[in-house]
Amino acid sequence: MNENEIRKILRQYYEEDLHYDSGRILGSMYTQIPKISLEIFTLFHEANLGNPALYLGTQKIERKVVKFLLKLTSGSENFYGHVLSGGTEANITALWAARNAGFRRILTTQEAHFSLRKAADLLKVPIKFVRSNGHRMSVVDLRREIKDGDIVVANAGNTQFGFVDPIEEIGGICSMNRCYLHVDAAFGGFVIPFLNEIYEKKIKFGFEIPEVMSVTIDPHKMGLAPYPAGGLVARENIFKSIEVPAPYLTSGKSDNLLGTRQSGSVAAAYASILYFGWKGYRRLVRECMENTFYLVERAREMKFDVPYEPEMNIVNIKVKNPIAVRDGLLKLGWSVSASEEFGTIRIVVMPHVKKEIIEEFLKTLKKLGD
Ligand SMILES: Cc1ncc(COP(=O)(O)O)c(C=O)c1O
Repeated sequence: MNENEIRKILRQYYEEDLHYDSGRILGSMYTQIPKISLEIFTLFHEANLGNPALYLGTQKIERKVVKFLLKLTSGSENFYGHVLSGGTEANITALWAARNAGFRRILTTQEAHFSLRKAADLLKVPIKFVRSNGHRMSVVDLRREIKDGDIVVANAGNTQFGFVDPIEEIGGICSMNRCYLHVDAAFGGFVIPFLNEIYEKKIKFGFEIPEVMSVTIDPHKMGLAPYPAGGLVARENIFKSIEVPAPYLTSGKSDNLLGTRQSGSVAAAYASILYFGWKGYRRLVRECMENTFYLVERAREMKFDVPYEPEMNIVNIKVKNPIAVRDGLLKLGWSVSASEEFGTIRIVVMPHVKKEIIEEFLKTLKKLGD
C-alpha cells in the first residue's frame, strides 16, 4: 500500500479514540505533550537502553533526566535511577530489588496503586494492607503491624485522592525496625515540590527523609513527557541486586525488567524537562491547582457533593451510581474514572482541563443526573 492508503486506514481507527485536545479526558494522568518532545521522541525512536553501549548519547540523556528526578525528590546527584516504562514497572522493580536484598513482606494501604498487588504476585511476597485514616496510612496501625524485614510502601499522591501519607512519621517507624521504605510518588513527585513553593507548604516525601530508599516518580504523568516514561530513583544501587548476565549485549548484563527499552521517550522526557524547567512546572502546578479549586467551588455551587478537600489536582465527586455515570459520560465523549468503593467519580485536573471544560463538564453531569 502507498502512504496515503495506509494513512487513510489508520486515520479511521484514530477517529475512534478519545483525544486530549478535546479536553474531555478527565480521568487520566496524561495530557497534551509539547510538540518539541514529540519531535525528539521520533528522532530517538530507534534508541534502546536495553543495549546501552550502542546509545552513549541516550545514556547521557537518561542520567540528565534522573538528575532532575533526584532534584524533585531531594536526592543527591550521585544517587541512582532509571527511566522505566511507567509507574508499574518502577514499583515492581523497587520491590523486586528489596525482595532480593532480603526483605520479605509488603506493607501498604488499600489506596496504593494496583501495581503493588502485581509485584506481590510476581515476586511471591505476601502483601498486607494497614488501615488508613482519611485515606492516608494510619501510623498507629503501621506501628502495630510492622516487623523486621518488611517493605513499607507509602504514597505521595495516591491514585484515587492524590493524598500523601505521613511519610516522615512512617520513616521514623521504619527506623526502629529493619525495613525497606519505598515511596510511590508516580503522580505526586512532579506536584509536591511545587505545592511546597507556591503555597509555602512543607510536605516531605523524598530522600530528605533518611529512611526513604527509593521513589517512583513518573515523567509521563505531571512531567508532561510522552509515554513510556516512568522513573525509579534510589539512594543506593538497588539495581545491582536484580542484575542478570546478558551475554549477547555489549554491556554483558541487564539490570532492568525489560529487555528492549523504548528510549525515544527518555530523550523526549528530557525535552519536556528542558521545555518547562523548574519554573515552567511550577506554573503548570499553579494553573492545575487553581482549576482544581475552581472545579470544587463550582461543583459545590451546583449542589454536587465534593466530600474531600483536594491535596493536589485530583477531585472526587459523590454520585449515587458511579459506574452508570461514568458510562453515560463516555457515551457523550467524556471520560472520568469511577469508584464504586468510594461512591465517586474522579477527575484529574491535568493541564488540558481548563475552566471552560469544567463548566461544560458540570453542565453535562447535571443533565445526566447521578
Ligand atoms: C500512584 C501511582 N502509582 C503507580 C501508577 C502506575 O503508573 P503507570 O500507569 O505508569 O504504570 C499510577 C498510575 O496511575 C499511580 O497513580
